[in-house]
Amino acid sequence: ISAKPWAGRFNAPTDAFVEAFTASVEFDRRLYPYDIQGSIAHATMLARQGILTDAERDAIVAGLERVRAQIDAGAFQWSIRLEDVHMNIESALTADIGEAGKKLHTGRSRNDQVATDVRLWLRDEIDTIRAEIVRLQTALLDLAEREAETILPGFTHLQVAQPITVGHHMLAWFEMLERDRERLADCRRRLNVMPLGAAALAGTTYPIDRAYTAELLGFDRPAENSLDAVSDRDFAIEFTADAAILMMHLSRFSEELILWSSAQFGFIELSDSFCTGSSIMPQKKNPDVPELVRGKSGRIFGHLMGLLTLMKSQPLAYNKDNQEDKEPLFDTVDNLKGSVKVYADMMAHVTCKRERMRAAAKQGFSTATDLADYLVRRGIPFRDAHEIVGKAVALGVREGRDLADLTLDELRQFSALIADDVFSVLTLEGSVAARDHFGGTAPAQVRAAIARGRQRLADH
Ligand code: ARG
Repeated sequence: ISAKPWAGRFNAPTDAFVEAFTASVEFDRRLYPYDIQGSIAHATMLARQGILTDAERDAIVAGLERVRAQIDAGAFQWSIRLEDVHMNIESALTADIGEAGKKLHTGRSRNDQVATDVRLWLRDEIDTIRAEIVRLQTALLDLAEREAETILPGFTHLQVAQPITVGHHMLAWFEMLERDRERLADCRRRLNVMPLGAAALAGTTYPIDRAYTAELLGFDRPAENSLDAVSDRDFAIEFTADAAILMMHLSRFSEELILWSSAQFGFIELSDSFCTGSSIMPQKKNPDVPELVRGKSGRIFGHLMGLLTLMKSQPLAYNKDNQEDKEPLFDTVDNLKGSVKVYADMMAHVTCKRERMRAAAKQGFSTATDLADYLVRRGIPFRDAHEIVGKAVALGVREGRDLADLTLDELRQFSALIADDVFSVLTLEGSVAARDHFGGTAPAQVRAAIARGRQRLADH
């Protein structure tokens, strides 16, 4: 058993429980491709600066590639005694190539190493998540296109408000996801700054070229300040905040899909492939996927609070507390990625029950505002028109009939300005078609918005 890389100043071995308690390799080993990528770039820079020989660099690079292959193949022996992914890999490298392996850590610390690894990893994950969001947005645009003219009731307070089109409704979710996608792009831009070279906290005495290492790793630039570079985790918090907002959107969306697929609403049918049954009730088809996504929003909100609290009392610079950033961050990525993926797949297979939607829109006096607007066009101030229509609605409520089912004579008791052209504004189609301005629910506007949406996805 080789000694710990830092054992020099110690006289007693690490307590067995402390060894397990402080180790992170059980979870940080997933960073291994990025740890190796970072080490190869670091060694390449050291050789270019004359700090390592070319032969040492070649041995290091070849050795790290062998370690990578071994881990890929599941044949690597991870050891808790070596604490974390970084020391496991370095010690396997040295066991393989000897002296040169011991030189890899020149001008570097695990503090700048881990900060670099996590950024490289998260950068890739953000790219994957953004691509999944595009897939979901595309499914929503396709659904909006199929249902551009389908009418359903729009709700406020979950009470029928005004008729809208399904296309318009889906475009609302598209917009929220578009902001989520932009937020992640913004986060990526800020995190793409390289900590390497900060070493433990103060920088290093070797003549390193940080700009070159940054270029090799695809970072926009090296971090300006070494203390900041090793110690802050605001990029992780920012990402988790973006994830929490995205999950809040998906949770709202889930709530709606769950309601809509109930027998009481009956607006949509989720595909069998995305639902599950009951072990006791043979008739059940449960919307487990949206329910689970709604539930997962809770753990991600929790991770955001966890990370903020993790950082709030840390003095500069690195503290071991920071090791606790990984599990919440990994869990956030895994669950966010899974949620967006399953949503993209599920939304491509949603069927709208057009008749049910239409019937619901006909209930609840959804065109009452249209009648008020009709009276305004005949010269009545809006507040008075509101009052008049309110009385007509009260009659409809008493009689159990919709406004369009009242006779002209019945309507005219409330205002003599009502003529027989009123019925065209009381229809659902007339109501949605009349909202024909940028951002409105008219089918023509929805089609134009879908075209703009596709263009926005193509542009970035
Ligand atoms: N496993 C550690 C972490 O995740 C790596 C850095 C350790 N540095 C140290 N000085 N103990 O933060």
